[in-house]
Amino acid sequence: MLCLAFLLAIAVGAIYALLDQHYSYWRRRHVPGERPRFLLGNMGGLGRHWHWTDIDWRIYQRFAGRERFCSFYTFLTKALFLLDLELIKRIMISDFNSFADRGLFHNVRDDPLTGNLLFLDGEQWRWLRLHLTPVFSSGKMKFMFPMMVKVAKQLGNFRGFRNTDHFKDILTPLYERFKSTGSPFAGIYFMLRPVVLVLDLELAKEVLIRDFANFEDRGMYHNERDDPLTGHLFRIDGPKWRPLRQKMTPTFSSGKMKFMFPIVCAVGKELAQICAEQSQNSICGILEVSDLMSRYTSDVIGSCAFGLDCNGLRNPEAEFRTMGRRALTERHHNKLIDGFIESFPHWARRLRLRQVHPDITKFYQRIVRDTVKERESQRIVRNDFMNLLIEMKQRGELTLPEMAAQSFIFFVAGFDTSASTLTFALYELAKQPQIQHKLRQEIQESLQKHEGQFTYECMQELRYMELVIAGKIPASG
Ligand code: HEM
Repeated sequence: MLCLAFLLAIAVGAIYALLDQHYSYWRRRHVPGERPRFLLGNMGGLGRHWHWTDIDWRIYQRFAGRERFCSFYTFLTKALFLLDLELIKRIMISDFNSFADRGLFHNVRDDPLTGNLLFLDGEQWRWLRLHLTPVFSSGKMKFMFPMMVKVAKQLGNFRGFRNTDHFKDILTPLYERFKSTGSPFAGIYFMLRPVVLVLDLELAKEVLIRDFANFEDRGMYHNERDDPLTGHLFRIDGPKWRPLRQKMTPTFSSGKMKFMFPIVCAVGKELAQICAEQSQNSICGILEVSDLMSRYTSDVIGSCAFGLDCNGLRNPEAEFRTMGRRALTERHHNKLIDGFIESFPHWARRLRLRQVHPDITKFYQRIVRDTVKERESQRIVRNDFMNLLIEMKQRGELTLPEMAAQSFIFFVAGFDTSASTLTFALYELAKQPQIQHKLRQEIQESLQKHEGQFTYECMQELRYMELVIAGKIPASG
């Protein structure tokens, strides 16, 4: 027994001495590096606490700038960690012939899938590389492009996005599926980007109210330098969003809304006229309300945000409206590149990619530039958003491209949202005449009180109207 213990001690001692000798390889050659741990080398915690990149980053931060290379043990394998760009270039380019091997495990006989370009060494790698290189030629890539686009359409959980499905069509089934698990949130992928889908109302309130300071970014792509129309409130993030929001908030005060109210009413009168004309000429009195509402709201916002008579109600093909539609539906790039932009916004900015089509950017920038020029040169003052933006520009708070971006988002964020709300409200009213009747009564009473004038105060008194627009009326009315 004593003999066995003695032999065991000698074996352990010998292994220890061998490992010590092995792990002193770089130290004996005076190569700096982290102290290796027995059997783990410098890879302690890999897969449990750290990803490979965490370990690389730790070593890089510790030695970069001080050394050209440092020592590294991947478990028992001795390796050098390169830190100097020139040295890396020498190894990867000029001396590549001597460094072609990656040193990864391969065993083609027993583990055939390891016989690939990444794992193979030396002659085997060279031969395979020579024969596979033509596969990656730009001509071959071109042939594969339609397939890549097809796959890109199915990326992450957003298959069908901007193709057949609305955001809601994708998120609702995901919400329903994970809500039943009782989890407060679920992890999903927006294209390639991992995102959290909040499922619990209390958690949503925490994110949007109590902890809002940590969640103010919408995470949307913006690139003010190359894609100036993306530099608006809806897209920009924290440090830029906060001061801009502070500057813009007074623009939406109820006092300012009151001043703009006559503009809204003027377009409303035109809408009433057109409704009357169209119902006279229509078959069985049927009106295409959705299109009419879209034309109405684009005229209202075009007038408030750009100070223009957009003429969408009279002319459905008016440029202003067509451009608004294009801004909602068109992207500068195809779905593959757009997916890349959404997934890697930081890289997309570095590559100077843009999402808004240049025609759209040119159109809105031209309109804002011309309007500002006209108003400033002729000292025109109107009670609209544009006037407020011009005042901000004159105080040095906004540049011309920033003004164009804000006007653009007022239009794009405002016209379709409001048009859809009105369309749904009118649809419900058409289906429920008793509610329509009650609402009509409320409007007539309010008009009588205000001597037939539809004023801002008159509108504020319409409590039943507010419930109808908010969709809060029960079927009984
Ligand atoms: C029924 C009509 C509307 C609906 C349902 C709607 C909905 C929304 C929603 C959900 C947001 C995002 C809120 C958030 O992330 O916290 C938003 C933001 C925004 N909306 Fe609207 N909107 C409507 C009308 C308008 C109108 C008429 C305008 C302008 C004229 C407008 C301009 C904006 C702007 C500028 C933002 C970004 C605000 C910021 O980040 O500071 N919206 N809207």
